[in-house]
Amino acid sequence: MPVIACVGQKGGVAKSTLSRALAVELARSGLSVHLADLDIDQGSQVD
Ligand SMILES: Nc1ncnc2c1ncn2[C@@H]1O[C@H](COP(=O)(O)OP(=O)(O)O)[C@@H](O)[C@H]1O
Ligand SMILES: [Mg+2]
Repeated sequence: MPVIACVGQKGGVAKSTLSRALAVELARSGLSVHLADLDIDQGSQVD
């Protein structure tokens, strides 16, 4: 199972934005994707 990590200590540098975009495009290409956002603000969570 390949793992892609977008890591950086600084906030607001688009870790969550990039992670979401990667997850969406990989899923659209047919892969099964699990996205885990470990930022404290949980920026990739959707309602
Ligand atoms: N390429 C971009 N151009 C303009 N704004 C961006 C871009 N990438 C991210 N942002 C904005 O920057 C802010 C922080 O992005 P976010 O992905 O939440 O950062 P992080 O997860 O690293 O804290 C968000 O408001 C996001 O919409
Ligand atoms: Mg984030």
